[in-house]
Amino acid sequence: MTRKISLLLLLATIYGCQQSTSLISVTSPSNNNEVQIALDNQGSLYYRVMHKGEVVIDTSYIGFELKDQPALAKDLKLVGSESTSLNETWEMPWGEQREVVNNYNQMTIHLEEKEAPKRKFDLIFKVYDDGIGFRYHFPKQETLSEVIIMDENTQFQLTSNPMVWWIPGDWDIYEQLYSTTPFNKIDATSKRNHPNLAATYIPENAVNTPVTMKTENGLYLSFHEANLTDYAGMTLKVDTLNLSMQSELVGSDITGYKVKRKTPFSTPWRTIQIADKAGDLIESRLIVNLNEPNELDDVSWIKPTKYVGIWWEMHLAKSTWDYAGTQDMNSWENLADVKPTGKHGATTENAKRYIDFAAENDIHGLLVEGWNTGWEHWIGFEDREGVFDFVTQYPDYDLKEVVRYGKEKGVDLIMHHETSAAPRTYDQQMDAAYKLMDSLGIHAVKTGYVGKLIPKGEYHHGQWMVNHYRRAILKGAEHQVAINAHEPIKATGIRRTYPNAISREGLRGQEFNAWATDGGNPPEHLPIVAFTRMLAGPIDFTPGIFKIKLAPEKPDNQINTTLAQQLALYVVIYSPVQMAADLPENYEGQAAFQFIRDVGVDWEQSKVLDGEVGDFVTIARQERGTEKWFIGSITDENVREVNINLDFLSPSKKYKAILYTDGENAHWNDNPLDISIEEQEVDNTSILTIQLAPGGGAAISLVPVE
Ligand code: NOJ
Ligand code: CA
Repeated sequence: MTRKISLLLLLATIYGCQQSTSLISVTSPSNNNEVQIALDNQGSLYYRVMHKGEVVIDTSYIGFELKDQPALAKDLKLVGSESTSLNETWEMPWGEQREVVNNYNQMTIHLEEKEAPKRKFDLIFKVYDDGIGFRYHFPKQETLSEVIIMDENTQFQLTSNPMVWWIPGDWDIYEQLYSTTPFNKIDATSKRNHPNLAATYIPENAVNTPVTMKTENGLYLSFHEANLTDYAGMTLKVDTLNLSMQSELVGSDITGYKVKRKTPFSTPWRTIQIADKAGDLIESRLIVNLNEPNELDDVSWIKPTKYVGIWWEMHLAKSTWDYAGTQDMNSWENLADVKPTGKHGATTENAKRYIDFAAENDIHGLLVEGWNTGWEHWIGFEDREGVFDFVTQYPDYDLKEVVRYGKEKGVDLIMHHETSAAPRTYDQQMDAAYKLMDSLGIHAVKTGYVGKLIPKGEYHHGQWMVNHYRRAILKGAEHQVAINAHEPIKATGIRRTYPNAISREGLRGQEFNAWATDGGNPPEHLPIVAFTRMLAGPIDFTPGIFKIKLAPEKPDNQINTTLAQQLALYVVIYSPVQMAADLPENYEGQAAFQFIRDVGVDWEQSKVLDGEVGDFVTIARQERGTEKWFIGSITDENVREVNINLDFLSPSKKYKAILYTDGENAHWNDNPLDISIEEQEVDNTSILTIQLAPGGGAAISLVPVE
């Protein structure tokens, strides 16, 4: 294994005005990335990042503000350092690819204050060819047994004014549209008070991560974090004048601090993905590589799957989650007295209808929302604690019977737990709720945290909630239940350690197209998401809406893509659980539905063939355990011709390609249903030229010919 780590003692003059006392340099395995770390003459620690000799992060200081103590930021001395390297290959139990190479050079630097109280901490850098990660470690020490962090001040000094794809640094929710602006024009505070969000809190001009940038020299950078464990989520405060960012941890109005930990502990990794091509960001596995290996023994029960759901019909307001409508809950003597409105979606009968549809179409999961009591009182109420118990079904829904019927037909129930952002209730109920799933052989749950949090003063992305979300994952692991969290904490690669963290929302999903008052997700939304949110991990976007115009139910709403793009999303937007989100009746008799029947959900390998952030992206994925490939390509509002070179196919094989492409007159608004379906024989010398309509896309399945 080649290693190139050097510990150099350099004179200050070499680094210009920087009064470095000593400088440590770490390079990536192929030498394309380099991190330099040094102390200045105040004893303050800074780092720099270079890519192919170009400075991409200039002198950036780090430090901590601690409660009732002086800041930990200066008068530091270097007391030692160690370097190691690793080049391993590990297997994802499910994922974008089976084998992942984890190859880095690491440097650990031990620091201590020169004077009493001589507090100590370590800075650890892992330098990869696709980016860098660094974290802080606080060893056990007498003068610092408990660390109360008021602020972590990790700087990222940019070297140009890049183009940035960003969402505001909201402490409660990531469901905002992306803005595309030069760095010096970021104005996150103008995004407060979103009309369609039940919770927003944007205290500063800060952005949430992953945030992706293209530098003036055409280099791609994406900033995020990995292994967010027992710590607050990190937003990045933006300094538009100095073109720099600084970590701004999510706080708590209850405690007044950001993080409380006992030593020893490590912070999450602060990550910078660095890529010459936009698509390389998507192929980067930096975030999972920076997490600990799988801690679960048997993961055979975690099954990638397509699923349908009693779901879209509620978002269309065709049916309701609640059973009794606006009747006063307090007047209920017992459930039998409650009068149904007649519009309740989660009935046993309706569930069976969806199960039959799934079974006929080789789909093996069914989500049922609105099955448990409490929906009359779930949103817009101040006292939501105790409203849901996750075990009590409505009178017209027979949970056991739905599970039984599904099993008979090869369709597994996906449980639903909407907590209405009352996590204390969920904590209390978790045992009973997960035992119930265990006893019925239910192996997946979709959770939800809609609204402002109770306890008031905590935020969805603070340390308290980070720990709550983790409790659900651990409880799930104990009972063999996979978690698909909505309104979650962002993905930071925890799925490597706990593969039952199977997917999550954490972005503006398809649901907004059903009811957003701002016109829904514009055509550029997903070509941005693929290079931003998707770098964090799997996305439960819920694709596959075939009835693009939503009248009569929602005359003012629609999906802002073509039908062909809805198909392409099964490949482009990665999730091991993919919903066929539309109503069964809207799929009936649709030739295009064949693609959803056929498409894989678990991948041997993934290749980004081409793409540009916010414009378009083309991804090819090979299904695990088969020789089949699937390709998805999507564009923004602009028409585009893409050339798809099939040179990645096996050289000795012929494939039957089915191409689902935008029809000649397709357009997301004027003619979204215009689709062309064609068969063609191809091999690894073929190049397909495909026209993508405005808001359009293409989906291709490739099956080897016997
Ligand atoms: C918001 C989720 O994103 C959506 O999928 C769900 O249907 C509702 N909350 C109700 O839980
Ligand atoms: Ca949501």
